[in-house]
Amino acid sequence: MAKVAFLGLGVMGYPMAGHLKVKGGHDVTVYNRTASKAQKWASEFSGAFAATPAEAAKGVEFVFACVGNDDDLRQIATGSEGAFASMGSGSIFIDNTTASAEVARELAEIASEKGIGFIDAPVSGGQAGAENGLLTVMCGGEEAVYEKARPVIDAYARMVGLMGPVGAGQLTKMINQICIAGLVQGLSEGIAFGKRAGLDIEKVVEVISKGAAGSWQMENRWKTMNDGKFDFGFAVDWMRKDLGICLEEADRNGAQLPVTALIDQFYKDVQGKGGQRWDTSSLISRL
Ligand SMILES: NC(=O)c1ccc[n+]([C@@H]2O[C@H](COP(=O)([O-])OP(=O)(O)OC[C@H]3O[C@@H](n4cnc5c(N)ncnc54)[C@H](OP(=O)(O)O)[C@@H]3O)[C@@H](O)[C@H]2O)c1
Repeated sequence: MAKVAFLGLGVMGYPMAGHLKVKGGHDVTVYNRTASKAQKWASEFSGAFAATPAEAAKGVEFVFACVGNDDDLRQIATGSEGAFASMGSGSIFIDNTTASAEVARELAEIASEKGIGFIDAPVSGGQAGAENGLLTVMCGGEEAVYEKARPVIDAYARMVGLMGPVGAGQLTKMINQICIAGLVQGLSEGIAFGKRAGLDIEKVVEVISKGAAGSWQMENRWKTMNDGKFDFGFAVDWMRKDLGICLEEADRNGAQLPVTALIDQFYKDVQGKGGQRWDTSSLISRL
């Protein structure tokens, strides 16, 4: 059992912090910007809550974070009431936010000056993966730090991997998002085509999902896409944030992402229709 803080109780963070308490058996203190969510979490899981990241992180061995983007992360880590201010030497900061590889390297450097370990650890598996404690966690950092953090991360994970030095977890998550973007558009076009052709989409999916076209997105999203239901899941706003990170990184490393750039613009259309918080499968709504 470890002393743990969790910062950011959104769609993902709330259940992840719960698994650290219930499955991991750890002593968990949470912080959330909107304090009422932290209070709700503390009463649901019989844990503690704190008013600032620094207060939550004081005296703990592991600090987890799952907030929105690079700036949010900087604020809760290095802001005036940020976690780094109170974390002790030898403690470890594990960042589950999907952020840039650059911010991971920047924060790891500041952390190392204070003797704090840093792991970038973005996740995949969505809301359901977080609620069921079955996330895929892509880590970047020093091996010795990772080995200490891994048994704690296990509480909310099905698969945890060290991908390389700090930033490598975020780079792996970028690949994950690049692979998903084009695939969801392909699935959207397939379903929209099938409807126009007058086919029974359920039958179509039942058959082709067992062949080479099968995917997680097909298995888990075809029905809601067919029904036009998108009020759940991974928000379009977050996907555009992620694709923006991918496109910026590609500018730096010279990779070509023509389809990813196009799908990013398609998601912009979805935002324009009021779909900012719709699940990413809402790409089909354009068709
Ligand atoms: N949802 C998914 O399916 C999914 C899957 C994989 C990865 N992710 C990634 O995981 C991260 C969190 O996603 P989510 O869906 O849990 O988002 P969310 O529901 O919007 O929650 C965001 C959390 O961050 C907090 N926050 C945002 N800005 C902050 C700031 N400046 N200072 C302090 N706290 C701040 C929010 O606090 P308030 O409650 O006060 O707003 C909230 O607790 C994102 O990077 C996302 O891309 C999400």
